[in-house]
Amino acid sequence: MATFPLPPRSVIGILGGGQLGRMLALAAAPLGYRCHVFCPEDDAPAAQVSERTTVADYEDRDALAKFAQAIDVATYEFENIPVAAARFLDERVPLRPSPGVLAVCQDRLAEKSFLNAVGVATTAWLAVPEAADLPAALARIGGPAILKAARYGYDGKGQTAIDTPSDAAAAWSRTVGTAAAGAAILEARVDYAMEVSVIVVRHANGTLASYVPVENLHENHILRRTTAPARITAEMAAAAEAIGRHVAGALDLVGVLAVEMFVTRDGRLLVNELAPRPHNSGHWTIDACLTSQFEQGVRAICGLPLGVTERFADAVMDNLLGDEVAGILAPLAEANAKVHVYGKAEARPGRKMGHVTRLIRHSPGR
Ligand SMILES: Nc1ncnc2c1ncn2[C@@H]1O[C@H](COP(=O)(O)OP(=O)(O)O)[C@@H](O)[C@H]1O
Ligand SMILES: [Mg+2]
Repeated sequence: MATFPLPPRSVIGILGGGQLGRMLALAAAPLGYRCHVFCPEDDAPAAQVSERTTVADYEDRDALAKFAQAIDVATYEFENIPVAAARFLDERVPLRPSPGVLAVCQDRLAEKSFLNAVGVATTAWLAVPEAADLPAALARIGGPAILKAARYGYDGKGQTAIDTPSDAAAAWSRTVGTAAAGAAILEARVDYAMEVSVIVVRHANGTLASYVPVENLHENHILRRTTAPARITAEMAAAAEAIGRHVAGALDLVGVLAVEMFVTRDGRLLVNELAPRPHNSGHWTIDACLTSQFEQGVRAICGLPLGVTERFADAVMDNLLGDEVAGILAPLAEANAKVHVYGKAEARPGRKMGHVTRLIRHSPGR
């Protein structure tokens, strides 16, 4: 049984092989940890920079049991791990954040119920168990709405805007299809002034660290740009950070949590969704903060003290989507830009291939 803090040379098991796992593994190395990735795909971005990889399905109990024996702590970089698999693993080696946190955050109905139960404001929402319930739910929401599949959505996949009740049937078949009942949530569409997010890190002893709220611009539901800090008042920034800290505590989180929020035109903060892992809107912290969100994640799950979250520069982070990754020579030549490429073989349209962080600094020189 592992005792925390984990000593150097301990092995962090990472469920999921994407860029978040890659950047987590890259942050684990300077602290002397080794990483073992578990994911269904070959040649995954995280596997390329980790000591070991198990290529297996998340449902493969034999593979999970062997994985558990080879690691000292487990985490996930991907939310759609089956909760039963997460519990199976957690019975053998500590999974951080816990399977309970994963269960809340991977189901939009559980997530919004939890948020409201702990006093956090969200947009108005209703569970829509089946297609036949949608017209009544639309009437109750009473304005422009968004229908979302309760599970497995990302980058705007699995959601459809509904402007008039006559769109309902088409929206249901597009979003939920003929999937199992109990599968959808209807949300009032927020006419927001800005989208912001807060990244919070929590240690098992309850210590919290949080980063300054940032401003997120989405295009086709995919994050295009993050500006740090968000251009909001100091009062609103403090309120957003307080919400993030409150949610992390209420979840009894150990690890990193991203809290996405809308700033309404009348100055309220409504939480949109939670991600219990490092987040795209926190990539700027790698280059602009002494301790990145990834290093904080490693520290939290391994039981090390958390680092400081102050930034030494403001920053703008742009995702490199699809073919844009072919254009890195220009930012590589810029004095204040840092380029990150994730090593994915196929540059499919809209796919997150890398990012560029531009620091806005007042340099004291060398
Ligand atoms: N209720 C809503 N009102 C207005 N815009 C929304 C709403 N829900 C989602 N969106 C828009 O769609 C984006 C993606 O939705 P989100 O719920 O964060 O799902 P995911 O990030 O998992 O695809 C949000 O960042 C926001 O731009
Ligand atoms: Mg989102």
